[in-house]
Amino acid sequence: MQAIELNSGTRLSDGAGAETALSVAVCGAGYVGLSSALALAHVGHSVTCVDVDKKKIAKLSAGELPFYEPHAQALLVSLADRISFTTDFADLRGSDVAIIAVGTPTFEDGTSDLSALWSVVEEIRALADSSPMLLINKSTAPIGSVRKIQQKLRSTPLITAVSSPEFLRQGFALRDTLYPERIVVGCDDARAESVLRKLYAPIVDQSFPEPPFLPRPNGYDKPAWVCTDSASAELTKYAANAFLATKISFINEIAELAELVGADVTDVAHGIGLDRRIGNDFLMAGLGWGGSCFPKDTLALVASGRRLGAPMEIVGAARSTNQRQRERFVRKLNDLVGGLDGKKIVLLGMTFKPGTDDLRDAPSLHIARLLIDFGAEVEMHDPVARPGDIIALAKNADAIALVTEWPVYSELDWRPIASAMRGNVVLDGRNALDINAIQDAGLHLTGMGVTR
Ligand code: UDX
Repeated sequence: MQAIELNSGTRLSDGAGAETALSVAVCGAGYVGLSSALALAHVGHSVTCVDVDKKKIAKLSAGELPFYEPHAQALLVSLADRISFTTDFADLRGSDVAIIAVGTPTFEDGTSDLSALWSVVEEIRALADSSPMLLINKSTAPIGSVRKIQQKLRSTPLITAVSSPEFLRQGFALRDTLYPERIVVGCDDARAESVLRKLYAPIVDQSFPEPPFLPRPNGYDKPAWVCTDSASAELTKYAANAFLATKISFINEIAELAELVGADVTDVAHGIGLDRRIGNDFLMAGLGWGGSCFPKDTLALVASGRRLGAPMEIVGAARSTNQRQRERFVRKLNDLVGGLDGKKIVLLGMTFKPGTDDLRDAPSLHIARLLIDFGAEVEMHDPVARPGDIIALAKNADAIALVTEWPVYSELDWRPIASAMRGNVVLDGRNALDINAIQDAGLHLTGMGVTR
């Protein structure tokens, strides 16, 4: 039992309940690491966040966020006395818990680059000379990684390694971390669960004070606690992302058919989503998925399945459909403007989804490349990644195409845009624009999977 007894025994001081405050080290200050660090500090733990990126740590130490994420800045400022940032792993000595939240990029063949993860494991091993520590892996890593970590740490019985996958969405990172639907943990040593329960107790019991700018969502109760073995926890993460990605690709395939038979995919999605077994979420047809998780995790799952002899054919098909959506969008634009060569196209929305500044695997970049390959001149706008005057960009444009459904685009005044344009084509890649406003301005709107 020695390996999972704790160093700290202090009580939370902010009225968050009778839970024990732990000393928590978070390794990696990306979306996952920083959201965990901020949320765990907010619920009463004492947090030290380490990253090898000196610039990032300097910014954070000065109270500045290195990326855009709603509420993170306000939380960071409010937690100055409970969270610290460092580039020196020695500062983590004596922590009860260390969380691994570093990047695990995927190579083209679907295998993962785990160099950052292994270097953290080595740093943590070097620290565990006298006091026990629970090492929690939150980085999405191939199934079996936690068991490999356990093997690497065999000669360091003071450290116990477990899995606790992260399900947060960018743009909702803090909301999802403070008010999750479920917390999944994977322990191969059942005794580690008690430490995990202590760590997550304020979130499981919802005993922490709500941040005024991020109140508990209406109707929200408490998260489910799912405790399983480490491989099942790791597979749960991949399966969740693959399922959601597949759901989107499914509705995108139906959207393609809807266009051919004169149906409206938004009505179809509504009609099937009302069946609770299906559910309405993740049935928005359009340009499909991008970002830092779905593309990488589906690729890794397909690669693992192939390697292990269990082909992930459904997930593979979801990936192909997702790529095809982008090509289909460019073909549609080509048909609408009568050939792309020499045409000017304005793309609205660059980030992979609204509410983030993240351009990783953003459909906009792929689409812009295809358009340029076909000889089009491309202008791009994004409220966060590339703000600018849309009317000026629209000057002499043959078409305007919505790629990312930032709310600001649904409220555009289309009359001055129409006056600036040469053509009259608007292609809505997310079925999010206001058809009346566009038609009133004399423009012609086409969507995805809808016949207009
Ligand atoms: C996703 C998962 O939701 C989250 O649980 C996991 O931890 C990380 O991966 P995220 O990548 O932040 O989160 O974005 P999400 O909001 O899930 O959207 C993913 C992509 O799907 C976006 O590109 C979005 O535009 C697209 N999408 C989403 C659709 O095309 N249609 C939909 O109905 C929903």
